Amino acid sequence: MIVNKIQVGDFKLGKEERDAIIKVLDSGRLSEGPKVREFEEEWAKFIGTKHSILTSSGTAAIMCGLSALKYHNKYKIKEGTNIITSPITYIATSNAIVLTNFKPVYVDIDRKTFNITPENIKEYLEKNNNSDCSVILPVHLMGYPCDMNKINKIAKQHGLVTFEDSAQAHGTIYEGKKTGALSLLSDFSFYIAHNIQAGEMGAITTDDDEINRLVRKIKTNGRMCDCKICVRATGQCVKLKKHEKENPKNVEDFDPRFSHDLIGYNFKTMEFQAALGLTQLKKAGWIIKKRQENVKYLNEGLEEFSDILQLPFYSNKISYLAYPLLINKPNTISRKNLRTELEKKNVETRPLFGCIPTQQKAYSYLKKEYENKLPNADYVGQNAFYIGCHQYLERNELDYVIKTFKEILGKRL
Ligand SMILES: Cc1ncc(COP(=O)(O)O)c(C=O)c1O
Repeated sequence: MIVNKIQVGDFKLGKEERDAIIKVLDSGRLSEGPKVREFEEEWAKFIGTKHSILTSSGTAAIMCGLSALKYHNKYKIKEGTNIITSPITYIATSNAIVLTNFKPVYVDIDRKTFNITPENIKEYLEKNNNSDCSVILPVHLMGYPCDMNKINKIAKQHGLVTFEDSAQAHGTIYEGKKTGALSLLSDFSFYIAHNIQAGEMGAITTDDDEINRLVRKIKTNGRMCDCKICVRATGQCVKLKKHEKENPKNVEDFDPRFSHDLIGYNFKTMEFQAALGLTQLKKAGWIIKKRQENVKYLNEGLEEFSDILQLPFYSNKISYLAYPLLINKPNTISRKNLRTELEKKNVETRPLFGCIPTQQKAYSYLKKEYENKLPNADYVGQNAFYIGCHQYLERNELDYVIKTFKEILGKRL
């Protein structure tokens, strides 16, 4: 059987995608404009929130969201406080916390979902007497939803804010709502291979008007203008009118786009990315369903190895980022050997990130503090990996994956 490389993800740039790019080129508008606004509106509708604000990446979205919480009239989250988060995730979650001057604190995960649990969060808060925590930032890894009802309840009891990292869960449904609509604010990433992809791009979703306003300002260097579309030229700009009243002599000289009342970043995105994202969002139903079918098919084909490998659990409520596997019996086969053999046979793999405070060099300053404290995250960080289940994989390719596992693992049994 001859098959192409079985990639972790794929982005097919067909006619629709090419046409979308050409339209942006023809419009002459490259920086944020109507396509960005359209994506924001469609994404808010898709997730079920009042607002969605696009940023240049998911990392940027987390940084804007956390910065907005510092400036927020109601929450006024203090810099330097602790943010409870997951040790098993792409490193960006922790990096964004550190880069906005907060301290990540880690609780252990559940081995089945790879997510932090309400029980571990509660235990941490009780043991540490709340210990200067301000935010709980759980990650819906691989598309699996965290138990948000319980997490929100704990947050409320301790006066904390919840901020979901839904970068890997585009369309997962939890208790009738989509992830990204289950807390005060959430972030998404549209990086390549995510279910809805745009190359690079991120978003914040929220129902909170003040967070919406602040994120729009923070992503544009803290400018005073927070209009969705700049209306300065039409004379309808609210900031302009306010300034006219306060400062009638100086109106001509005031431009809210170049007047800044807080310190922010440039995390804007481009029209191309939003236009590409829109082509994918139109196919969201198909993408999610095809990935679910592929997970189901791979699970059936690999069932005989379910004592050696923990297969992903199936649910038609989960929007799968990929097909994660945990080696239950590393003495039978190590992750390194299994990954090497799969790669040799053209099945692309990725490690499931590594436990941040104990296994990621950038966070080695936390190693001592967390040694032997996160046994599940340590285990998963050493023994879990993922392969693709994306929407372009066809039956013959899935059959090839199953056959390849049989060849590799059959020899060891
Ligand atoms: C859980 C999680 N958070 C944050 C990010 C950061 O997103 P980006 O790569 O778009 O900056 C990612 C990226 O994949 C992610 O998986």
